[in-house]
Amino acid sequence: MGISNLRPAISCISLLALYISLCTITPTSSTSLQNGFIKCLHRNTKVDFPLEKTFFTPERNSSSFIEVLESTAQNQRFLTKSVPKPGFIFTPVHESHVQASVICSKKLGIHLRVRSGGHDYEGLSYVSQIETPFVLIDLSKLRHTNVDIEDNSVWVQAGATVGELYYRIAEKSKIHGVPAGLCSSLGIGGHITGGAYGALMRKYGLAADNVLDAKIVDANGELLDRTAMGEDLFWAIRGGGGASFGIIIAWKIKLVPVPKVVTVFNITKTLEQDVEHKILSKWQLVADKLVEELFIRVQFRVAGSNGNKTVTTSYRGQFLGKKGTLLKVMKKGFPELGLTQKDCFEMSWIESTLYNAGFPTGSIEVLLQAKSPLGKAYFKGKSDFVTKPIPTLGLKGMFKRLIEEDASFMIWTPYGGKMSQIHESEIPFPHRNGTIFKILYYTSWPENEKRPNRHIKWIRELYNYMMPYVSSNPRQAYVNYRDLDLGKNKKNSKKNYIKAQIWGGKYFKNNFNRLVKIKTKVDPENFFRHEQSIPRLTLSKLGL
Ligand SMILES: Cc1cc2nc3c(=O)[nH]c(=O)nc-3n(C[C@H](O)[C@H](O)[C@H](O)COP(=O)(O)OP(=O)(O)OC[C@H]3O[C@@H](n4cnc5c(N)ncnc54)[C@H](O)[C@@H]3O)c2cc1C
Ligand SMILES: *[C@@H]1O[C@H](CO)[C@@H](O)[C@H](O)[C@H]1NC(C)=O
Ligand SMILES: *[C@@H]1O[C@H](CO)[C@@H](O)[C@H](O)[C@H]1NC(C)=O
Ligand SMILES: *[C@@H]1O[C@H](CO)[C@@H](O)[C@H](O)[C@H]1NC(C)=O
Ligand SMILES: *[C@@H]1O[C@H](CO)[C@@H](O)[C@H](O)[C@H]1NC(C)=O
Repeated sequence: MGISNLRPAISCISLLALYISLCTITPTSSTSLQNGFIKCLHRNTKVDFPLEKTFFTPERNSSSFIEVLESTAQNQRFLTKSVPKPGFIFTPVHESHVQASVICSKKLGIHLRVRSGGHDYEGLSYVSQIETPFVLIDLSKLRHTNVDIEDNSVWVQAGATVGELYYRIAEKSKIHGVPAGLCSSLGIGGHITGGAYGALMRKYGLAADNVLDAKIVDANGELLDRTAMGEDLFWAIRGGGGASFGIIIAWKIKLVPVPKVVTVFNITKTLEQDVEHKILSKWQLVADKLVEELFIRVQFRVAGSNGNKTVTTSYRGQFLGKKGTLLKVMKKGFPELGLTQKDCFEMSWIESTLYNAGFPTGSIEVLLQAKSPLGKAYFKGKSDFVTKPIPTLGLKGMFKRLIEEDASFMIWTPYGGKMSQIHESEIPFPHRNGTIFKILYYTSWPENEKRPNRHIKWIRELYNYMMPYVSSNPRQAYVNYRDLDLGKNKKNSKKNYIKAQIWGGKYFKNNFNRLVKIKTKVDPENFFRHEQSIPRLTLSKLGL
């Protein structure tokens, strides 16, 4: 189907750019690109790689190429025909293959993109819209997890998913966990580079706050652990964003205690049921101040159909403890929600990860499938941080906008607790004390949507509307909710560095400057680069 249409575009673009002479000899550009790469790999690794299982080109076996490309790509916007495709995909089966990939890409002048779980909001892990040709190094076959209860830690390879990590821990112990994301299909590799929050964040912080060690392949193809990389680089990779400093092979994360019984609930209110937004306003006052064991997110979703639409607000909670205690906490701190016995479900921590990921209760084996019930979508997301409660008037306008969009969706995630106790510069992730909650704005649309841009326009307008109600100077954003709009409204500013200071300030506040210094030191040639990678400091960029 679409594949045959794709083929000429890929061959010609990649060829014309690099191998003009080869182009006239052979029409199979990706294959020749790949052949040079394979030869080089053989010279740089002793560990064999079965070609038919590790290399995928558009020419050689289109169906498997498309299958592998699409396998973990979450944002279908970046899989459509007009979006550039990698020249080939390589799926390393040994860490030395990643080292050799860096060495060979450098030698052959091939730009690479690296993917762990494929959740990047802007598809940066599998698409480059700025460099041709590019290839995809997909780490999905490096997914070993080694839980060490004695040592209270786990080594997990980049290609493992969050769900898999939770499952492997629960196999060994019912009273240990790891604070990471809610969605089970997230890739450990990319996820932790941006911070990684989840239901344990108010008690234990982010996954990045609990990283003890890491293995990374740097721009020279060296494999480094914490001692070898040094504390600067080790600081930068724990929240400084993906694919700027090297390729993470594995993380070592501290295990945290979880109780045998946790309690979850999900209470949904329609607009009509929350008169004058009283419940939502109270949530804003208490969400970051309740006991650290309690994590209550709010999900907003448009419901109903034409002419009869409403927005539902679901309060989805997880409490590290039994329901009796939870009911007391809620009665004291948030009685307006009206939580009762029958709303509460007691379960093990591992079952709660299933629940948080949106699976129906049942077998936890589904955590091993690299799929999540949220599923793939054509989507655009944006983020904000809120430091003072949004007044009722602000909420009214927000709901008015939510109800106008077909599939509007929003999540408010509470901060406070451990998140406030960690200093802003401890790791690059700076959104700490003073943050009440984070907003995720999200919209999606069906494949056959004729005018996808109207949804993107809608979300940008909502974002503009929210400006007076959210953090400012800088207006902060979560780097793991990658947003290429940021810095763009510097009209035709050709100076990428100026744009970078805008998004850099939003994602990292003052930590951006240290990230730039470290980048300049560890990757002076800017080998690891993408649309929003950390820039190097050069004299020309300083205007000197
Ligand atoms: C449905 C959905 C749910 C989400 N839920 C949460 C959540 O609960 N909590 C949360 O914190 N975030 C959440 N996110 C955001 C998520 O953390 C980021 O998208 C994260 O970057 C995903 O990591 P990945 O490996 O899956 O993605 P990828 O797309 O594979 O990678 C993301 C970025 O990191 C780079 N990268 C990938 N692997 C490596 C590596 N091994 N070394 C260096 N760089 C690498 C990529 O090139 C890319 O730039 C969610 C996203 C989606 C789409
Ligand atoms: C092409 O890939 C598919 C799916 O991975 C596989 O089943 C098939 O055997 C491959 N065909 C060839 C000719 O390699
Ligand atoms: C509109 O929605 C309400 C509640 O969701 C429902 O009770 C009512 O029947 C709906 N009306 C129409 C015309 O669909
Ligand atoms: C929470 O409740 C709402 C409304 O009943 C529902 O739409 C949503 O799917 C529920 N979420 C979970 C995870 O149970
Ligand atoms: C957080 O900020 C508040 C208000 O500025 C301050 O009173 C409090 O001590 C801070 N907490 C920490 C842990 O730094």
